[in-house]
Amino acid sequence: MIKFLDISKTFTVKNETVRALQHVSLTIHDGDMFGVIGFSGAGKSTLLRMVNALEIPTEGHVEIDGRNVDTLPHRELRDVRKKIGMVFQQFELLNSRTVYDNVAIPLRLNHTERTQMRRTVTKLLEFVNLADKADAYPNQLSGGQKQRVGIARALATNPSILLCDEATSALDPETTEQILQLLERINRELNITILIVTHEIQVIQRLCNRVAVMEHGRVVESGSVLDVFSNPQQAMTRRFVQTVIPDTIPGSVAAGLREETRNYKLIKLRFLGKNATENVLYHINTTYEVETGVLFATVCELQHTVLGIFIIKMTGSEEEMQRVLAYIDSLELQWQEVHIA
Ligand SMILES: Nc1ncnc2c1ncn2[C@@H]1O[C@H](COP(=O)(O)OP(=O)(O)OP(=O)(O)O)[C@@H](O)[C@H]1O
Ligand SMILES: [Mg+2]
Repeated sequence: MIKFLDISKTFTVKNETVRALQHVSLTIHDGDMFGVIGFSGAGKSTLLRMVNALEIPTEGHVEIDGRNVDTLPHRELRDVRKKIGMVFQQFELLNSRTVYDNVAIPLRLNHTERTQMRRTVTKLLEFVNLADKADAYPNQLSGGQKQRVGIARALATNPSILLCDEATSALDPETTEQILQLLERINRELNITILIVTHEIQVIQRLCNRVAVMEHGRVVESGSVLDVFSNPQQAMTRRFVQTVIPDTIPGSVAAGLREETRNYKLIKLRFLGKNATENVLYHINTTYEVETGVLFATVCELQHTVLGIFIIKMTGSEEEMQRVLAYIDSLELQWQEVHIA
């Protein structure tokens, strides 16, 4: 378990103080795929680098399995770092060394015995599907292949935690998907806890079970990906989530609504799990004196659960529409009335 306990970090550069992190508290459980999302400068990398004590908090502490990493003596810190692999956006490979040698670097640093080293590197290159590239040099590889080398190297010391700093941000969507699949296997098959920081919400949606949203050095929202994505609370979170799960009325539809002369309401409904929209709409249409139509719908899957967002236009008398809303309330569905700008 990784715990960030009320972390603050300030950098001072030429008399100017930058508050990179402010009172950040988060818990990452073993086996989590924990995503941290935020725009550039939010403090994501600073936070990530505290896990292996590449940055030390100005205030607060980082604990791994109950041990304070920011005050560990050098030798113990070295042992902790062996249990933590790190993957970078720009791969950080040594171009003058072969793929094999790049993966072997952490093992050489640990004075691993030769046959053991060969066995480990071979196994890792097979795991990341690069066995045929052992003798190639990094500049002979594609971006995705380079990142797989970076990942194999990060796994060389058999870590229990993998830190990924924008691991897919330099890659095209298809290559990104390959890397995400690999990270998923690492989490599932090797049982490694993954902390991934990114500005790409798709990465979180596709991969993570938990997420923290950062803005100006603070965590503004955190929780399970299902909760946060299905019902984002903060403006910053909504901005990110809306790019993958749109929930606003398209402009052309809104324009049409401005012509509407009858009395109507727009209701945004959220369904989680079993999709019951048709039943609900059927019931409304057959029971109440209103007319309904779906103006907009998104359906997606999060953590193997279906999330559906529907914007429904209901036309009828105020009284009858209130009865419909009472009915929707009784279903314990999440809903809200929306207004066009
Ligand atoms: N070593 C440093 N010295 C001075 N300021 C720093 C240092 N490292 C980070 N900062 C500042 O701290 C803030 C947070 O930086 P950080 O790199 O953690 O953000 P980030 O969310 O990772 O951004 P990006 O998405 O661009 O990688 C920024 O304002 C940055 O300029
Ligand atoms: Mg960064």
